[in-house]
Amino acid sequence: MSTFIAACRRQPVEHTPIWIMRQAGRYLPEYRELRSRVDFEALTHKAELAAEVTIQPLRRFELDAAILFSDIMTPVQGMGVDLFFDPGPVVRNPIRTDAQIDALPQLVPERDVPFVLESIKLIRPELPRGAPLIGFAGGPFTLLCYLVSGKPSKEFGIARSFLYSQPESAERLLDHLADAMAAYLGAQAAAGAQALMLFESWAGLLAPREFSRFALRAVRRTMAALRKRTDVPLIYYVNQGSALMEVVADLDVDVIGVDWRSPLSQVSRVLGPGKAVQGNLDPAALFAPPGELERHADLVLQEGRAAPGHIFNLGHGIWPETSPDAVARLVDHVHASSSKGRR
Ligand code: CP3
Repeated sequence: MSTFIAACRRQPVEHTPIWIMRQAGRYLPEYRELRSRVDFEALTHKAELAAEVTIQPLRRFELDAAILFSDIMTPVQGMGVDLFFDPGPVVRNPIRTDAQIDALPQLVPERDVPFVLESIKLIRPELPRGAPLIGFAGGPFTLLCYLVSGKPSKEFGIARSFLYSQPESAERLLDHLADAMAAYLGAQAAAGAQALMLFESWAGLLAPREFSRFALRAVRRTMAALRKRTDVPLIYYVNQGSALMEVVADLDVDVIGVDWRSPLSQVSRVLGPGKAVQGNLDPAALFAPPGELERHADLVLQEGRAAPGHIFNLGHGIWPETSPDAVARLVDHVHASSSKGRR
């Protein structure tokens, strides 16, 4: 079993596995080169290109997992929602009425996003070192933020006020997205994805009460459906969720991913012995001078030893300005340092 899957399952590992959120992307010269010729949407819609970009970072670095190159909005486009990327997703007709919610079709992945499933099949046999492939989707609430607000925003005021002004409509939309993402992730696992991750990038916008009522209720629905369909590890990434760990502790997933704001030992203490943790170096730490970066990585490793399983990652996506050399140093250091202090 790969170190990544073993850590997800809270089993012993010979070194702490590491992968990096947004590891395929603009900090890589080979991505920028391809991207200068092909726009982002075409990259996500052409199976061969998405497969190539997925594999790029694994050729360069000894990463322990690959993540499918796609976007959280790709299946939403597959449901017929008209949107474009600039660089974040912009929805041409934001969804704010019951009529619009009721008109959303259910996602049939094989019909609506066949290129995603095709790229998974292309990627699997090409992955170096038998690295496992992570499939992913957006958390229903994070998708709602973009669908209702219509564009990226710091506070997503329009989406948040929608929860209060039209709570039943919000729940209907979330249920629909929860079922669509269950179908989407289930199809990814059937096509060959070896772990599934749900990104709740905007979790931190909500207080625990609203997070439970809206975001978590929908995620439970997605994860429960997936547990019936597949036995691959399930990961829930909760960005800016330090105040939400109590309420996610009883969610039926294998791994909780967190941002850099709370130490992993503290996170794990709240989550308990049934959850592995993923994270949580500040992406800004990759700008520290050599020696310092390694010291920051060691602090994360040390915190991670308090958890029953630890997958090293950044607390959020890598920045486009990051030097690939810093990434190489980080990956090699995490492997060397964690295999010395074997768990
Ligand atoms: O390497 C990987 O992690 C896989 C690829 C991936 C992308 N988006 C490619 C992408 C993944 C996992 C995502 C998920 C995603 N997309 C999230 C959740 C993760 C997170 O960062 O919180 C969110 C919120 C989105 C929505 C989205 N798509 C935004 C906000 C943006 C702009 C972000 C930016 O960095 O400028 C996108 C566009 C996007 N998705 C790019 C990439 C590589 C940049 C597009 C380009 O090349 O121009």
